[in-house]
Amino acid sequence: MTLLPGLLDTEAIRKDFPILDRQVHDGRKLVYLDNAATSQKPRQVLDALSEYYERYNANVHRGVHVLAEEATALYEGARDKVAAFVNAPSRDEVIFTKNASESLNLVANMLGWADEPYRVDSETEIVITEMEHHSNIVPWQLLAQRTGAKLKWFGLTDDGRLDLSNIDEVITEKTKIVSFVLVSNILGTQNPVEAIVRRAQEVGALVCIDASQAAPHMPLDVQALQADFVAFTGHKMCGPTGIGVLWGRQELLEDLPPFLGGGEMIETVSMHSSTYAPAPHKFEAGTPPIAQAVGLGAAIDYLDSIGMDRILAHEHALTEYAVKRLLDVPDLRIIGPTTAEERGAAISFTLGDIHPHDVGQVLDEQGIAVRVGHHCARPVCLRYGIPATTRASFYLYSTPAEIDALVDGLEHVRNFFG
Ligand code: ALA
Repeated sequence: MTLLPGLLDTEAIRKDFPILDRQVHDGRKLVYLDNAATSQKPRQVLDALSEYYERYNANVHRGVHVLAEEATALYEGARDKVAAFVNAPSRDEVIFTKNASESLNLVANMLGWADEPYRVDSETEIVITEMEHHSNIVPWQLLAQRTGAKLKWFGLTDDGRLDLSNIDEVITEKTKIVSFVLVSNILGTQNPVEAIVRRAQEVGALVCIDASQAAPHMPLDVQALQADFVAFTGHKMCGPTGIGVLWGRQELLEDLPPFLGGGEMIETVSMHSSTYAPAPHKFEAGTPPIAQAVGLGAAIDYLDSIGMDRILAHEHALTEYAVKRLLDVPDLRIIGPTTAEERGAAISFTLGDIHPHDVGQVLDEQGIAVRVGHHCARPVCLRYGIPATTRASFYLYSTPAEIDALVDGLEHVRNFFG
């Protein structure tokens, strides 16, 4: 058994995740290395979901009966937990959405309908990067098409990092918003937030950070990041699907217009016009994902009980080990940083000229679950001249033995394809 410094007690942790005991393909032990796509859920979260539906289910903010009040307290209690988890100055800065994509689309649409000084128009520029997930590219393309704004981006270096050498030309006095990923889902790269935020602040641009691959894996402090918006999703951090978060600075949420209209986001409605409820409700039209928010609250309790610092240290040790072992596999090329520094626990690679879909299929036959494809970050594949990658990604329950199984599995893939 490989022992690495900083590892968590995975034997104990894995007992919380019933699915990790599953076998696949006639008795093969499941090796789940697709955590960047979605994490597994501990029993504590599954129990919170069924308890919610068995005991408290009602619509929130509407009823005067006991269940409605209890459901509201649970839903708003989840908001408190999220606010504490990201060190938000106010709980009213936490907006529940259905996923990170919706959070990022919400920011683009707030700005799309805003008046000065936030207005995005043909005189202004939007800045993203070449390593964004499609959900932090397409909303900005839509906004640029609608308003005539110019879309610009930072390119990538050969070793999978952001090329910031031209930062002063990319972020200019015309820039209204800079939106970038904290940790890339395909390259694993962790980006230098401070340098980008400093330049954005110099020119008075807003900053939006996609923290989907960061929030599950490391302590996240929205005040330390100094961003204006931070988006992430629940299902990658032990929570259920259908729940995302947008944190936004209070003054901005007060000033910016809503995107979706409907019940619960209003103050008064007449046939001629409406006024809106204060944030966060202004941005939560309709019945929200109540059970999912409660499940996310339980996921945060679970992660906090282990400690985000310890989760980060665990994944760092695993990533260091995995990079070292993968680089020893003949013909394997890591697409992204080849050190464990300033990177997350998702590692993409190619294996000679074997197509990643074939790699993934042969690994799957051995019980090893990885993701293959362009990982919703197709510009990255275009940049590095590859059709796709195979990606292994770890979480708090991943073990060195699973990395060994991956490396053995890749040896099998190489033999299979001669
Ligand atoms: N964004 C998720 C991934 O990278 C789905 O797999």
